[in-house]
Amino acid sequence: MSASRSVLLIIGGGIAAYKVLEVIRRLKDRGIAARCILTRAGEQFVTPLAVSSLAGERCFTDLFSLTDEADIGHIQLSRSTDLVVVAPATADLIAKMANGHADDLASTALLATDKRVLIAPAMNPRMWQHPATRRNMAQLERDGILVVGPNSGAMAERGENGPGRMAEPPEILAAIELALAGDKPGGQRAIGFLGRLPGGNHAAAGGALAGRHVLITSGPTHEPIDPVRYIANRSSGKQGHAIAAAAAAAGARVTLVSGPVSLPDPAGVETVHVESAREMLAAVEAALPADLAIFAAAVADWRVADAAPEKMKKDGGALRPLSLVENPDILATVAQRTGGRPGFVVGFAAETQNVIDYARAKLARKGCDLIVANDVGGTGVMGGDANTVHLVTPDGVETWPTLPKEEVASRLVAHLARQIAGKAE
Ligand code: CTP
Repeated sequence: MSASRSVLLIIGGGIAAYKVLEVIRRLKDRGIAARCILTRAGEQFVTPLAVSSLAGERCFTDLFSLTDEADIGHIQLSRSTDLVVVAPATADLIAKMANGHADDLASTALLATDKRVLIAPAMNPRMWQHPATRRNMAQLERDGILVVGPNSGAMAERGENGPGRMAEPPEILAAIELALAGDKPGGQRAIGFLGRLPGGNHAAAGGALAGRHVLITSGPTHEPIDPVRYIANRSSGKQGHAIAAAAAAAGARVTLVSGPVSLPDPAGVETVHVESAREMLAAVEAALPADLAIFAAAVADWRVADAAPEKMKKDGGALRPLSLVENPDILATVAQRTGGRPGFVVGFAAETQNVIDYARAKLARKGCDLIVANDVGGTGVMGGDANTVHLVTPDGVETWPTLPKEEVASRLVAHLARQIAGKAE
């Protein structure tokens, strides 16, 4: 494999296996090579051909021949990688891992590996809550296995609802990034155990943000004109939501105050839904205190001074001009608090020109510790999947290459965790 980072992806037998195809694609986008093992049960849901086409190399199955064994061997397969990922991790695979079985290629590779292992459990809620699975998960936790998900929600089986849905591809990718960052030689150990145990408890002891409360705003705000019309902007919330997912994966307790977006609530995050800037400010203040606050929302700068209580009618009369008043600046209000200011405050600056200069001015004017500045002029950043950012602090500017928003999120979380740890020393 020529990529500098690689994962061995073990695809178990569950309906969520199809989502893993998206994970393979996104790994390639990030320059992370994926070598894949498809279990016999996994082959019932996705084909070796689909997996190998996306991974760009052959997919290993139980039907491997002795030639393969001589060629690569299960020991080498499990060790010539930076991280082993199991997704979907079925109840059966989890049981095999917890008990050290080695009766097929996947379980043998898992037993033979000397690398960190991240699992994305996926199963029926009753199977997830069964005492046997609870025991097995507790064992995996003791063994230092990293876990992302599962989420709660409707299952493929009709009428079934509860914990057991596999984490979404962006959540799995954020967890992979963190796990790989933790493995970098000389790098900071970014995560410990990522898992959520039943009841929603974070068991992220050792996570880079374990024990921290992180507050994040995301998405646009809608400022009513009347009960059916509003002023808004093009923000999708993708960047803010990805940061919330990455912070949760790093072990933080996360409160996400989200404007109206069409994204699902990130797993393991307390999401507060608001509409207007004033509601967002109230929700942010209610969520304080926080160790870290990240203001990624594209808050509308103005609202209509006197929003009509009833739908405005044309009535054939003259058009009523809208008079606008400025909204409260949520970031500045929180960053300039004298009591209860979060330990570290991060703002975003969406600019269409003079990006760095405007960001520097914003940093000083708003009183935050760091500005993530990006150029939103005609580049498709607003609503798009990639972002080019500059981290602007009083000490200087760090520019990152164009990256998928999930990767910006996981890098930013790792960067901020180091800042906070540095401040505490
Ligand atoms: N922000 C906020 N409340 C507002 C406006 C902005 O919390 N009412 C926050 C955003 O979440 C972001 C930062 O301030 O973190 C900068 O937002 P931006 O729209 O780039 O800056 P503005 O303050 O609106 O300044 P300008 O319009 O002059 O660029």
